[in-house]
Amino acid sequence: MTDYFRRHLGAKLLLSYLVIILVGVAVLIVASQFILPASFNRHMAGMGTMMGGQGQGQGWGGHTGAPPFYSEFRAGFNEALLYAALAAAVVAIVLGFYLSRSVTAPISAMSLAAERIAAGRYDERVQVHGADELAQLAMRFNQMAEKLNEVESMRRQLIGDVSHELRTPLTAIKGSMEGLMDGVLPATQDTYQQIHAEADRLNRLVDDLQELSRVESQAYQLDLRPVEVSSIVTTVTKRLAPQAESKRISFDLDLASDLPRVLADEDRAVQVLTNLTGNALQYTPEAGRVTIAAKQVNHEVQISVRDTGVGIPSEHLPHIFDRFYRADKSRSRRSGGGSGIGLTIARALVEAHGGRLWAESAGEGKGSTFTFTLPLAK
Ligand SMILES: Nc1ncnc2c1ncn2[C@@H]1O[C@H](COP(=O)(O)OP(=O)(O)O)[C@@H](O)[C@H]1O
Ligand SMILES: [Mg+2]
Repeated sequence: MTDYFRRHLGAKLLLSYLVIILVGVAVLIVASQFILPASFNRHMAGMGTMMGGQGQGQGWGGHTGAPPFYSEFRAGFNEALLYAALAAAVVAIVLGFYLSRSVTAPISAMSLAAERIAAGRYDERVQVHGADELAQLAMRFNQMAEKLNEVESMRRQLIGDVSHELRTPLTAIKGSMEGLMDGVLPATQDTYQQIHAEADRLNRLVDDLQELSRVESQAYQLDLRPVEVSSIVTTVTKRLAPQAESKRISFDLDLASDLPRVLADEDRAVQVLTNLTGNALQYTPEAGRVTIAAKQVNHEVQISVRDTGVGIPSEHLPHIFDRFYRADKSRSRRSGGGSGIGLTIARALVEAHGGRLWAESAGEGKGSTFTFTLPLAK
């Protein structure tokens, strides 16, 4: 029995109503037993004076024995009390039943929905009635379910994308190997080079994926310190100089002279700028120009990489930061492009610093500009 009450919110509510009624009745009874005699006396005495003193002495002293009309009155009073208590109890039971139903029904519904979600049915939602705390809870519950649904579909999408990306180089390697075994492909240096390049692609893809998962789950520590922007830029231009030279592209630097230091993890900032500059070199034809500029805007420093390359058609602009997104897959592959994860990683890194990363391009063949911000060191 007590177990039943402990486990049912409705029973608890009902019980609390009944306890309140019982305590109320008990208080009324005790109070009336003390107050009633004195009050009765006072009224009888008042009636006596009204009747010209004839009623003097008719009051009841409490110890001298009750006159019959007092016990009549008391019986009547107690009867009224009994009916009142019964009526209150009935109202309490009915009210308690409906109230507890209105509280427990949505909770049970949510409990059921939670069970279904736990079993993998992420489209489960509960109905929201009214605007009280329970309705708010139901609303939050639905929001949570929505979020879970999103995460789940992202996970599925990711697995699909990754398998697709892995399949392309694997198919190429397998095809070449079969060609070699069947003697269809000549066993030349060229063939081996091709296979090696595909294996290399596979390797880079796995590295990128590992990095992406680390960055997105924030499983790394940002070592934030005041850093000179010029030091970041110099590191990157030195690192990419051979690549730029081989394409006869010259780096132009346009750094504001009074540039303040930024608060950043230098290695990570270098990684972002390397990524953007590497893309600029990759997507700019020979003898083009790549300009790295930096200037202070309000409380941040904007660092941008501008190129005179192939540009990005406006329909691709909103997507290039998505995982595996490449504006032109065939060209990206031919030119030894990556897996389309580089910009996703770069954006996640910039956002971890509290900055933003965006792209602008006037269109195909008109070059592109990638800009990111880093907060000033205080
Ligand atoms: N500087 C650029 N000029 C033109 N297109 C670019 C540039 N940088 C990035 N893109 C486009 O954005 C896509 C995604 O870039 P990224 O994430 O670095 O992937 P990828 O591995 O292909 O370089 C690229 O495939 C390319 O289509
Ligand atoms: Mg890239």
